Amino acid sequence: MVKVLIVYASDHGSVEKMANAVAEGVKKVADCEAEIRKAENVKMDDLVSCDALVLGTPVHMGSIDWRVKKFIDTVCSGAWMQDKIVGKVGAVFASGAGYGGGGGGCELTMLALLNNIAELGLIIVPLPKGTPGYQAAGLQWGPYGRAHADDLSPKGLSDDQLVSSKHHGTHIARAAKALKGSTIFG
Ligand SMILES: Cc1cc2nc3c(=O)[nH]c(=O)nc-3n(C[C@H](O)[C@H](O)[C@H](O)COP(=O)(O)O)c2cc1C
Repeated sequence: MVKVLIVYASDHGSVEKMANAVAEGVKKVADCEAEIRKAENVKMDDLVSCDALVLGTPVHMGSIDWRVKKFIDTVCSGAWMQDKIVGKVGAVFASGAGYGGGGGGCELTMLALLNNIAELGLIIVPLPKGTPGYQAAGLQWGPYGRAHADDLSPKGLSDDQLVSSKHHGTHIARAAKALKGSTIFG
């Protein structure tokens, strides 16, 4: 079985919805399973035993949620020190308010996560612009859910904003399945 580990933080449910949608997409690929875990509950063994690591975060002050960053700095850093998860698959997604055309820091947030994914030696799966749902909730870095209304009040994510997350999960699972057991490094 190919295992996709989805690690996230969420206060108001938008990132959690996206995590569930990614998992749904993973399960569409034969022999692939998804495990969804809150960032504070993930241990090194979980990283070592997965075939793909997907990080999801709300945009907080233009950057990564502190719980996801703590997971990266405490658990992932141990794997980084020993090159323990090099060559697995990595991907990201995020939800933000969507203030203004610049996206309130969402691109920077996803790029910061992808920087960490690259540090770990993971093979990055992006979100191609032709992915269904991309226009409603997509950036080339990964799915981006805009959870607030124009007056900045939180409204959550609509179903059309979850389509790209679902397809992201399928892309990730396909890549992880193709690479499982390969020895492209070392
Ligand atoms: C402390 C805090 C800081 C935030 N900072 C930003 C921000 O800089 N840019 C942005 O677009 N949204 C920002 N937001 C909005 C959240 O990113 C948005 O509501 C997101 O969908 C929350 O995800 P969740 O429902 O999974 O908790 C912030 C929210 C909180 C609570």
